[in-house]
Order: sequence, then structure tokens, then C-alpha cells
Amino acid sequence: MTDRPMEASARACANIALAKYWGKADVKRNIPAVPSISLTLDQLVTETRVRFDESLKSDVVRLDGRRATAVEAERVVAMLDRVRRAARLRTRAHVTSHNHFPTAAGLASSASGFAALAASVSAAAGLPFNARRLSALARASSASAARSIYGGFVELPAGSRGDADLAARPIATPEQWNLRLIIAATAPGQKKVGSTEGMERSRKTSPYYRAWLDQAPKWSRTIKRAIKNRDLDALGAAMEQSTLAFHCCAMTSNPPILYWAPPTLAALSTVRELRERGVRVWATMDAGPHVKALCEVAEANRVRQALARTPGVTRTWVAKAGPGVEVNL
Ligand code: DP6
Repeated sequence: MTDRPMEASARACANIALAKYWGKADVKRNIPAVPSISLTLDQLVTETRVRFDESLKSDVVRLDGRRATAVEAERVVAMLDRVRRAARLRTRAHVTSHNHFPTAAGLASSASGFAALAASVSAAAGLPFNARRLSALARASSASAARSIYGGFVELPAGSRGDADLAARPIATPEQWNLRLIIAATAPGQKKVGSTEGMERSRKTSPYYRAWLDQAPKWSRTIKRAIKNRDLDALGAAMEQSTLAFHCCAMTSNPPILYWAPPTLAALSTVRELRERGVRVWATMDAGPHVKALCEVAEANRVRQALARTPGVTRTWVAKAGPGVEVNL
């Protein structure tokens, strides 16, 4: 009965959250408790190939040339199972995924990974999913992946319990605002706590979690307006507040989660000093020690040089707005 391709590949870019997602309204369905806004980045690409194979007894998952660990494979198989259920398919699959990131600096991204997986597996299974359905599918595995389905500036609204169709939506195309994000990789400090685990710990234990839920939508609204008005000063200030507030939630969890390493603080100081000298640049960070700085094209080189000179910064590169997911049959 099939007109299923049974094989497909997809390419997706990572994204950086300008307004941060931290915390879930529904853990089982992976529904974010706060709205988030991101910029899809051109430099950090994951390419994933899925091939259904009648001869397989179980799914085979390979990431960057090695067999996936049990924990990694479990998340991938959960996505395969969701698609198999929707497509009424039982066949197991080979999944091969490669991160084409400029350096292996611990920047591997579940956003690009699950966006590329959602698109490749549903194409291989013959599901006629549009971007919205793909985004909801990716979100069920990793909420930031919902945003990587689209290029440019993207928002993912907050959801509520049972909101199974919650998906991201584009706000502005890559061409509409040509900003640069300078990524300053720092040597990692202690072993990182994954974001899924970190935000659950914050929800259960941080005395500041409620305050975060109260305040986060305001920063998200400010950032959306700033994107509409191409107002980098407003965007930058709200982005820094959103970043520091979510890190504050992480730090005040029990046990505490401190993503920062000494070079993190040094890089944040570099950004602040640049700003004091009149450079319009603002910093953000995810669930790790690296610092990312947002600025106009004209300032990108200066910002990059200053971050590269910062003690403990191991590597820098410049990313710009990237495209949404692309599928190849
Ligand atoms: C700090 O999307 O990785 O990068 O939905 O549990 O997979 P799960 O979490 P994930 O969280 C990303 C958190 C963040 C902020 C952001 O990207 O919005």
C-alpha cells in the first residue's frame, strides 16, 4: 500500500534564544511554560538521514560516526515511534546524524538535531506534514527544536497542559534584519547538567521559579516588539535580562546548577566594557559556559576580536541568521 519514500534526509540549523525558554507546563508532552523567541543560525547545522529497513529488529542510531548511547537513542526512538504511530508503520529505521559545527566545543544542539530528525523521519514515512506540524513534532522531543524548523526570527508561545499541537511560528525572515551573533567558546567548567534536567530541577526547587514564570512573558513581548521595530537596544537589554534571570533560576535550584566557568564572567565583562565604549552589543548564554554576543554587522569584527582576546575564550566565530529545515528525498 505504500507510496512512502522510506528514506529521506534533512538539514536543520541550531538557534539561539533571545527570550529564553526555561520550565515546562507539561513534562510528559514537553510543553514550555514560558514563551520564547529565537534566531536561527546559519553556522551550526545538523544533517540527519533516516532509512526504514524491513530487516531490522530494532532501530539503529548513529551520531557523529558513533553508536548513540542508550539515553540518546531513547529520545530518538521516541520520535520515531510518534511518527510510526501517525503513519501506521511498524518498520524499524537506521538513523544517521552529523553535526557540522565549526568546532567540537560542546555546542552540540538538540534544537538542530531534533528539527532535522522530525523532518527526515516524517518525510521517509510519507507523512504530508507542513512546517507547523513538523514544529509541533520536533517540540515534543525538545522545545527549542520547534523553533529550528523555521529560519530567521521565530517565536514559540507558552502552552498549557495537554496542548499537543503547540508549535513555533516565524516572526521575521533572515533577510529582514541582518544581525550577527559572535560565539565565544570557553573551556567548560564542571560537567554540564542538560537543559531538560536543569529546568525540571528549577521548577521543583528554585524559590525564584515562580518569579521567572511571572516575568518571562514581558521580556518575550519586548523582544518581539524590538524585532518588529529593528530596535537592537531594546532587544539587547531584554535578552540580557532574560538570560540572567533564567541562570538565576538555575543557580538557586537545589542542588544548584552553575553553568558558568571563569571565562564566562570574563567574556560577559568584555561585552559590558565594549558597550561602555559605545559598541552596541549584548550577551546571552544557554545551559552551558559559552557566551554569545549579538550586534550589528558593522561591529562584528571588533566584538569578535575583543572576545578572542578574553582570557579563557578558546575559539570565536561569527554566525548570522540561517534558513529553516530543508528536506531531501
Ligand atoms: C537554555 O529545548 O534543550 O537553551 O525541551 O527539555 O529538550 P527540552 O529543552 P531544550 O532547552 C533549551 C533551553 C535554553 C533556552 C532556549 O533555547 O530557549
